[in-house]
Amino acid sequence: MPGFTTRSIHGHGYFDRETGSFIPPVYLSVVYEHPDVESGEPRIVDRGTVLKYGREENPTVRALERVIASLESAEDALAFNSGMAAISTLALSLLKKGDEVIVSMEAYGKTVRLLEDLALKFGIRVRRAWPSAESIAEQVDRGTSLVFVETMTNPTLRVIDIGYLGRHCRDLGVTLVVDNTFATPVLVNPVEHGADYVIHSTTKYIAGHNDVVGGAIATDRDRAIELWSWRATLGTIMQPMEAYLTLRGVKTLEIRFERQSKTAMEVAEFLSDHPKVKEVYYPGLRSSPYKPIADKLFKKRLYGGVVSFKVRGGYEEALKVMKRLQVIKPSPSLGGTESLITLPAVTAASSLPPEDREALGIDEGLLRLSVGLEDAEDLIEDLSRALA
Ligand SMILES: Cc1ncc(COP(=O)(O)O)c(C=O)c1O
Repeated sequence: MPGFTTRSIHGHGYFDRETGSFIPPVYLSVVYEHPDVESGEPRIVDRGTVLKYGREENPTVRALERVIASLESAEDALAFNSGMAAISTLALSLLKKGDEVIVSMEAYGKTVRLLEDLALKFGIRVRRAWPSAESIAEQVDRGTSLVFVETMTNPTLRVIDIGYLGRHCRDLGVTLVVDNTFATPVLVNPVEHGADYVIHSTTKYIAGHNDVVGGAIATDRDRAIELWSWRATLGTIMQPMEAYLTLRGVKTLEIRFERQSKTAMEVAEFLSDHPKVKEVYYPGLRSSPYKPIADKLFKKRLYGGVVSFKVRGGYEEALKVMKRLQVIKPSPSLGGTESLITLPAVTAASSLPPEDREALGIDEGLLRLSVGLEDAEDLIEDLSRALA
């Protein structure tokens, strides 16, 4: 099998015989001849679905899906118009009255909110579990329908041993959904560890330039067909221009992620030695309790581009640091070329119950930094100036 970046670049398999072009174009067309008037047959996309209408299929989106499936070592993938569109479509397709869902306590706030809102409306039971493979596994039994976890949690960057969890869920016949947005397929392919569905907010590392919102789910062929029907009904397919930009971004995923991880390591080490910093959360640090799990699970000795840290003095001081930064921008999101910093307690984690936030260590002085592609020295100088 070709290497990761070769697949990122060529995995779409597009080639136009008429022009010789091997760069997938933006197919803005919403309508396709149906059936093909010459043959009288429908136009079949390679996974067996029919190309006839833009809410169901699009050739540019399909090209991206082939790349994502290949990078995630999955049989197929589907692209959606946001990470949350992917998660909503999956939840609506899988859950039914009486089901029990176990979700990691530190999952993305809107994911937890969606599951809990669906639970209230449709008679589903949702239980939040401490974000470790052992604690989640302890709660899973034959009555559980679905387990939802993230490979690396946000914002305290716990690494979940999805191999352990995958074996446990398989033994009990429980569906395992893994959001791999933070770790990316550069570090781990959850399907190889027993995940049934792998989710991405492609808005983050996969597209990588802070300029396009999208989502994807990688899974096996049969599950993809079922999910395809739900996507067609709900109308959550990714749009062609977004697919084009994401195809362009994903070509450099491995290169960007490696550089971001290396810079993040340098930044984490700098912050660990700084007297104004109380605590640093980064699984690459030797002091991190999650380093052994990361080293066992990840394909490379890289730990991602997000570093969280607590400054002494709580919220007031954290806000001052944010205000003084010049290169690093105060903004949510992560995984893009620009370095971004945020206060999770008032952004992504604000919808978590206060007692959960406290137990997880997400206080108002915690900052989450998404390291971009700027030079490491400039980021460290920016942080040094702001902390001083
Ligand atoms: C881990 C994770 N999953 C899903 C999402 C939702 O993705 P989107 O913003 O593309 O809808 C986010 C967004 O921040 C996220 O961080």
